[in-house]
Amino acid sequence: MNLKSISLTFSVAIFAVLWASKHLIFSNPNSQYLKYFVDLGLTTSSISPIISLLIPFSFNINARHHHKKQDNKGKKVSICDDFQPGIPPDTNTTSYVCVDRNGCCNFTLVQAAVDAVPDLSQKRTVIWINTGIYYEKVTVRINKTNVTFQGQGYLSTAISWNDTANSSHGTFYSGSVQVFGANFIAKNISFMNVAPIPKPGDFGAQAVAIRVSGDQSAFWGCGFFGAQDTLHDDKGRHYFRDCYIQGSIDFIFGNARSLYENCRLVSMANPVAPGSKSISGVLTAHGRTSNENNTGYSFVNCIVGGSGRVWLGRAWRPFARVVFINTTMTDIIAPEGWNDFNDPTRDQTIFYGEYNCSGAGANLTMRASYVQKLNDTQADPFLNVSFIDGNDWLQPIDAN
Ligand SMILES: *[C@@H]1O[C@H](CO)[C@@H](O)[C@H](O)[C@H]1NC(C)=O
Ligand SMILES: *[C@@H]1O[C@H](CO)[C@@H](O)[C@H](O)[C@H]1NC(C)=O
Ligand SMILES: *[C@@H]1O[C@H](CO)[C@@H](O)[C@H](O)[C@H]1NC(C)=O
Ligand SMILES: *[C@@H]1O[C@H](CO)[C@@H](O)[C@H](O)[C@H]1NC(C)=O
Ligand SMILES: *[C@@H]1O[C@H](CO)[C@@H](O)[C@H](O)[C@H]1NC(C)=O
Ligand SMILES: *[C@@H]1O[C@H](CO)[C@@H](O)[C@H](O)[C@H]1NC(C)=O
Ligand SMILES: *[C@@H]1O[C@H](CO)[C@@H](O)[C@H](O)[C@H]1NC(C)=O
Ligand SMILES: *[C@@H]1O[C@H](CO)[C@@H](O)[C@H](O)[C@H]1NC(C)=O
Ligand SMILES: *[C@@H]1O[C@H](CO)[C@@H](O)[C@H](O)[C@H]1NC(C)=O
Ligand SMILES: *[C@@H]1O[C@H](CO)[C@@H](O)[C@H](O)[C@H]1NC(C)=O
Ligand SMILES: *[C@@H]1O[C@H](CO)[C@@H](O)[C@H](O)[C@H]1NC(C)=O
Ligand SMILES: *[C@@H]1O[C@H](CO)[C@@H](O)[C@H](O)[C@H]1NC(C)=O
Repeated sequence: MNLKSISLTFSVAIFAVLWASKHLIFSNPNSQYLKYFVDLGLTTSSISPIISLLIPFSFNINARHHHKKQDNKGKKVSICDDFQPGIPPDTNTTSYVCVDRNGCCNFTLVQAAVDAVPDLSQKRTVIWINTGIYYEKVTVRINKTNVTFQGQGYLSTAISWNDTANSSHGTFYSGSVQVFGANFIAKNISFMNVAPIPKPGDFGAQAVAIRVSGDQSAFWGCGFFGAQDTLHDDKGRHYFRDCYIQGSIDFIFGNARSLYENCRLVSMANPVAPGSKSISGVLTAHGRTSNENNTGYSFVNCIVGGSGRVWLGRAWRPFARVVFINTTMTDIIAPEGWNDFNDPTRDQTIFYGEYNCSGAGANLTMRASYVQKLNDTQADPFLNVSFIDGNDWLQPIDAN
C-alpha cells in the first residue's frame, strides 16, 4: 500500500472530480500527460466524440476549483481515504490484484501487475484496474496466461500509448497493448493509440491500439480507439461482445478467427464531397493466406456508422474471409461494398458475405460481383460462438 498525502488545493480539486463524476483523474497535474491530453482533446474532439467524452475528465482539474470543499481547509487529506476497490478474496481458481494510478492499492502501472502474474498459470489472475487513463505501453507476454483486465467502464478506464509504425519497428509492434498470452480476457476497459492522426500520404504513421495474438481471448464491453489500424486482430480464436471500435483505414485487421457480436464499428474516415466516388476508409483487412485456414471475421448483430465513404473490407491477403450478418449499416458504405485490393486474381479466392443486413449501406444491388449473398445454410457456420469453438472455451461474462 502506497498512500500519498497531497496538498489541499490539489486534493480538493481531485475529490471534486471524483465526487462529481467518478471519472478520470491524474495524480500530478503538472505532468507531461496532462499537457498531452489537453492537446489530444483539442485535436481529436471534433472527429472523435467518444474520445472527447473520455478526455475532459483527465485534464479539467483546474476548471473545477469552484467545487472546493471549504470544510477541509488547511487539513492534509489522502487521495486514498475513500478508496474501496471492492474486489473479492482469492479463490482456488482465481487470484486478484489491483491497479490504481494514484497508488491506492497493489500497483500503479498495469504492466507491473502483469509482470507479477506467475508464468504459465493455470489459475486466472484478475487485474482490477481503477478509473483513469494509464499512459503506458503494456505487453502480456506469451507465458502470462489466463489474465483478465477488469476496468470500470470503457468510457472511464483506458490504457493508452502513442507508438507508430515508425517509432516501433513496424505496425505490428506499435500496439499500446500487445497480448501474446492465451486465455486473455478484458472487460469494461478501453485500448487507445493517441499518435497523431495520419495525414493522406503519410508513411509510417499507422498506430495500433491493441494487438491480440493469443488464442481463446474474449473482450466484453471494451473500447478500441485509434485512427488507422486500430485493432490488430492478429491470430487465434477471439470473441468481442458489446464493444466500441473506432478507426478509419483497415481498422480491424489480421488473420484471427473472431466473432463480433453487438459491437459498434465507427468510421472516423474523412467525409467525401456529395456525389464523389472516392473512398476514404475501410473497416476490415482480413489476412487469410490459404483456404486451408479457417480464419475469418464474423460480425453479427452489429451497427456500422460514422463518417466517410468506406468499404466493409479489402483483401489484404488473397483468401480474406469476412461476413456481416444481421448488421445495420448507414450510407457510409459505398455501393460496391468491398474491394479486392485492386487485384482481380483475388476475386476467386476471397470470401466476402452478407446476410440479412439492414440500413442504407446494406443495399446489395450494386455490390462487387464476388460478394456472396449468403443463404441460410451458408450463413449458419458464422452465426454464433461455434464459429470460434466457443463452446469449448468461452466462459460466461460473470465467470470472472
Ligand atoms: C481449495 O483448495 C483446498 C486445498 O487444496 C481444498 O481443501 C478446498 O476444498 C478447495 N476449495 C474449493 C472450493 O474447491
Ligand atoms: C495486493 O494487496 C492486497 C491488500 O493489501 C494484499 O493482500 C495482496 O497480497 C497484494 N497482492 C500482491 C500481488 O501484491
Ligand atoms: C488457463 O489457460 C490454459 C491454456 O492457456 C487453459 O487450458 C485453462 O483452461 C486456463 N484456465 C483458466 C482458469 O482459465
Ligand atoms: C516461458 O516459460 C518457460 C518455462 O518456464 C521458459 O523456459 C521461457 O523462457 C519463458 N519464456 C518467456 C518469453 O518468458
Ligand atoms: C508520444 O507522445 C510524447 C509526449 O507528447 C512525445 O514526446 C512522443 O514523441 C510521442 N511519440 C510519437 C511516436 O509520436
Ligand atoms: C460493465 O459495465 C456495465 C455498464 O457500466 C455494467 O453494467 C456491467 O456490470 C459491467 N460488467 C463487467 C463485467 O465489468
Ligand atoms: C517515418 O519514417 C520515414 C523514414 O524515416 C519518414 O520519411 C516519414 O516521414 C516518417 N513518417 C512519419 C509520420 O513521421
Ligand atoms: C494456414 O494453413 C497452412 C496450411 O494448412 C498452415 O501451414 C499455416 O500454419 C496456417 N496458418 C495459420 C496462421 O494458421
Ligand atoms: C437478428 O436480429 C433479430 C432481432 O432484430 C433477432 O431476433 C435474431 O435472432 C438475430 N439473428 C441472429 C442470427 O442473431
Ligand atoms: C433478419 O433481420 C430482421 C431485422 O432486420 C430480424 O427481425 C430477423 O429476425 C432477422 N432474421 C434472421 C434469420 O436473423
Ligand atoms: C438499392 O439500390 C438500387 C440501385 O441503386 C435502387 O434502385 C434500389 O431502390 C435500392 N433499394 C432500396 C431498398 O433502397
Ligand atoms: C445455399 O447456397 C448454396 C451455394 O450456392 C447452395 O448449394 C444451397 O443449395 C443453398 N441452400 C439453400 C437452402 O438455398
